[in-house]
Amino acid sequence: MTSLEVAVTEAKLMLTCGPGGVGKTTTAAALGVAAAQAGRRTVVVTVDPARRLADALGLGDDAEADEPHQVPGITTGANDGELWALMLDAEQTFDRLVRDQSSNKKQADAVLNNPVYQAISGSLSGAQEYMAIERLHQLHSSGEWDLVIVDTPPSRHAIDLLEAPDRLVGFLGHPVYRALTAGQRAFAKITDTAASMFLWAVKRLAGPQIVEDTIGFFRSLANIEGGLRKRAKEVSALLRDENTAFIVVSSPRSEAVGEAKHLLDALHEKRFPFAGLVVNLIHPMPEPLADEDALLLADLDDGPLADHVAWHAELTHLAVAERAELVELEVLAGDAPIIELPLLEVDIHDVPGLIDLSARLV
Ligand SMILES: Nc1ncnc2c1ncn2[C@@H]1O[C@H](COP(=O)(O)OP(=O)(O)OP(=O)(O)O)[C@@H](O)[C@H]1O
Ligand SMILES: [Mg+2]
Repeated sequence: MTSLEVAVTEAKLMLTCGPGGVGKTTTAAALGVAAAQAGRRTVVVTVDPARRLADALGLGDDAEADEPHQVPGITTGANDGELWALMLDAEQTFDRLVRDQSSNKKQADAVLNNPVYQAISGSLSGAQEYMAIERLHQLHSSGEWDLVIVDTPPSRHAIDLLEAPDRLVGFLGHPVYRALTAGQRAFAKITDTAASMFLWAVKRLAGPQIVEDTIGFFRSLANIEGGLRKRAKEVSALLRDENTAFIVVSSPRSEAVGEAKHLLDALHEKRFPFAGLVVNLIHPMPEPLADEDALLLADLDDGPLADHVAWHAELTHLAVAERAELVELEVLAGDAPIIELPLLEVDIHDVPGLIDLSARLV
């Protein structure tokens, strides 16, 4: 199959994931266009879109880009389709999560106003990956959307995304965290070696006030720990829901292909619903020369025509090599649709560009 039409018309959640720089954000936006044109009220959560793409999506320069904005210039004919977009703000998503999971404002403020929280909320390891999924959950459970599409952050390893909910739970189970939040013991009485070493290091590096703040932070977090754990479980389940569709994006370059293979293996192994492979930035296969033409052109003298023939041969060689690189990845994709998107001459940074791409996807 060579279309993502089923996923675009039926899924409730879609995630574009894959190696860095292969076109995840662009693909997420183009899938959004396709879904809106298929009559669905769609929202795309983008992560760090290129400046001009953000402008095209109506998100440029907006302090509230973290909330859905309707994308201008998408016509959906007679149907009710709409395309909205927002830009993931990991810190604001984290704040919202803390507020949702706190039983009252005082509890929430204790976490949100803590200097340690303010310092780390944007940079917790894996926070961006987790927050992309958390935002997906927030939008999904609002009931306002037929389809939520989530672009994923440029991770060092694409697979980080899949492990983000478990990592949050892992952090909550970490001995240092457990020791710091157990009971209301004073710092001096903390007996756990790892925890006291940790606090000693913090104190040396940053001064005693930070130690107090850190303990305060962990304790205030303990109030919402149950909620955080429950949410991480829900998010984990949502990612495996039958209405969720993972779209793996790769380029034909060998490093990207290697990582995409790794990601596909992990999706299968952990039973995430894989719904299609997009091979982006591929060189189209040139029309082959007819045999008699090739003979005629074989011993041309130097000149523009000879240059053209050489260029044709080079491009064919490149296109063949790229397809050879992709064989194993395509085997891993199994029966799922595989779509090739050509490397275009210009960057895709406007709505017409996205519409063109969306037509190739479905
Ligand atoms: N088929 C294509 N032809 C030409 N340019 C493309 C194509 N697909 C994407 N691009 C361009 O490549 C650049 C990277 O694309 P994009 O930002 O979507 O990648 P990404 O996978 O989201 O990157 P990151 O991992 O950094 O988030 C953008 O400038 C985009 O316009
Ligand atoms: Mg991106």
